[in-house]
Amino acid sequence: MRHITRVTLGLLCLSALLGCRGEPSRKPPVHPNQNMDLQDKYKPQRESKLFEDKRAMRPPVEGAVGKDFLKVAYGVTKGAVASHDDRYLQEDDAYWRGLDAAGQPITALPAQVKADEAFMARGQQRYGIYCTPCHGQTGYGDGVVKTVGKLNVPSYHQDYMREYAAGHIYGVISNGSASQLMKGYKHQISVEDRWAIVAYVRALQRSQYGEPGDRAESTAQEAR
Ligand code: HEC
Repeated sequence: MRHITRVTLGLLCLSALLGCRGEPSRKPPVHPNQNMDLQDKYKPQRESKLFEDKRAMRPPVEGAVGKDFLKVAYGVTKGAVASHDDRYLQEDDAYWRGLDAAGQPITALPAQVKADEAFMARGQQRYGIYCTPCHGQTGYGDGVVKTVGKLNVPSYHQDYMREYAAGHIYGVISNGSASQLMKGYKHQISVEDRWAIVAYVRALQRSQYGEPGDRAESTAQEAR
């Protein structure tokens, strides 16, 4: 009796194993967790019945810019695009990159920027946050960093600095200095604020090398 049970068990196991050997079947396999595996979609190169040209892979909309283009053209990373520079697709290079049509740094503030009192105050405040640690309150390169390290920060009040185009200063704030001794702040400072800082740096430079005509009305009156 025991012998027969063993044989039966053995046969059962064998048939179970053989049964798993994947005979071809027309029925769909059991698929309890669908997980969006079965969905209406077009596969690459397939025909579409919806579009007139029958292409399922649609050509990009006219004027579309691939995200790798941003890296090449503006040196921006995905993070930058998502945060401050999400309007980089704008065509206005003067405002967004500080460059004119020939690719040279613009010499004045871009047309969109209105250098009024509030704008200058914003520039002063942002400069205080981002630049004073190294460049100092007045721009002589004597920020607090000087007391703790050996970083040599140049003064804004040197001839070559005063001759820099506004767009160059904007470029340094955005991408850092040519040697990268100073890093760029495009991730931290918005485009508008960068221009406000440029305006403030210019004001600092003026403050040390002012022409007599630069004096405010009240100062001029006092002097009289
Ligand atoms: C961590 C210190 C540090 C901070 C913060 C910093 N800078 Fe600088 N900056 C430097 C150093 C160092 C140099 C010199 C870089 C070089 O020689 O390549 C420099 C150079 C510059 C130059 C001249 C670059 C050139 O092309 O000659 C400008 C303009 C400038 N900084 C503006 C700013 C402004 C505006 C800010 C604030 C947004 C700022 N920096 C923040 C350290 C700093």
